[in-house]
Amino acid sequence: MEKIVNILAVETSCDDTAASIIAAFCVAGKLKKFEIFSNIISSQASIHAGYGGVYPALAKREHQKNLPQVFKKAVRGFDRKKIDFIGITAGPGLDPCLWTGINFVQELMRKERKPAVPVNHVEAHILANLLTLKGGESKLKKTYLPAACLAVSGGHTVLFLMNDIGDYELLGETRDDAAGECFDKVARILGLGYPGGPVISEYARRWKAREKDSGIAVPRPMIGQKNYDFSFSGLKTAVLYHSKKQTSETGKSEEYIEAMSYEVEQAIVDVLVSKTRRAAQARQAKAIIIGGGVAANEELRRRMEIVTDELGIKFLAPPKEFCADNAAMIGVAAFFNRRKGEILQKPEDLKTDPNLAIE
Ligand code: KG4
Ligand code: ZN
Repeated sequence: MEKIVNILAVETSCDDTAASIIAAFCVAGKLKKFEIFSNIISSQASIHAGYGGVYPALAKREHQKNLPQVFKKAVRGFDRKKIDFIGITAGPGLDPCLWTGINFVQELMRKERKPAVPVNHVEAHILANLLTLKGGESKLKKTYLPAACLAVSGGHTVLFLMNDIGDYELLGETRDDAAGECFDKVARILGLGYPGGPVISEYARRWKAREKDSGIAVPRPMIGQKNYDFSFSGLKTAVLYHSKKQTSETGKSEEYIEAMSYEVEQAIVDVLVSKTRRAAQARQAKAIIIGGGVAANEELRRRMEIVTDELGIKFLAPPKEFCADNAAMIGVAAFFNRRKGEILQKPEDLKTDPNLAIE
């Protein structure tokens, strides 16, 4: 028998204020497909542009200001009585930002008498793939699991093995900056604004079209190490020194920015692809699955496709609109957590966990 579960979800862990309503269609308890009723995102990117990254106190203020409107838009035209529960990001993320979402949901729990389901943001980035995967849960399990999963964004770079939905083994993570943070910091050094990923990627594409040798060598931190950890702060420092020298000699020309953008993108992608490939091979994964803001990167997607072809395994990445922070993915994770019995009836039991781990 078919059952429909309606989920309202809220996300405020970083610099995007988001709310969404999704419906999960299940047969015999198994997810067949998700349908998205609304997916509202209010980005604070322009507010943080001057800081070259997310400024927590400012982000919190913006979440508080924007969340009521984002919520209103998300529920407009939907019969709220039909909402079964509320999915909410508990962590990892910036604690003041997480609390804004949690407090808002606590209020909703009181007013609307709905239970809540806390969600891990990193897990949600990977489960975002289920928003559009044809064949739903059975397809994922049969064709893609176990999978080497790479959640890669402005705040996280986490490599883990998914044995089943909700059954994860952490393989490695960044020891300092996240990959997206590295894109953002390099963009700041080059004077390109925030967020850095899309603009670096565009400059890199232009340099590639020139088919020239840049003569610039940047490091690929930890690429040769046998562990699955990452480190990106040294790469950013290398760019800082190189560009300082460049500025004093000739100024940062358009061509220099293109060449450096290309080299940095290659370095980041090389490290991400090489470590994920090694994990997939070592753990006999049937697929590589990626998610998170950086998963929108064309070069990363292209290289992951090549590697998975070589290994004879599958590759899965969400459509670009579901790579960056959104609340629909929080709804997906909430659906599976709820099925495991993770549901809170009392608002006071809902808390943040800024360092929430995947395992
Ligand atoms: O997932 P997300 O929206 O927020 C976090 O959870 O952090 O990711 C945002 C990050 C930013 O660092 C941004 O520069 C990066 O994703 N990003 C990209 C691209 N689009 C966004 N990085 C590389 N290439 C892109 N096309
Ligand atoms: Zn994220």
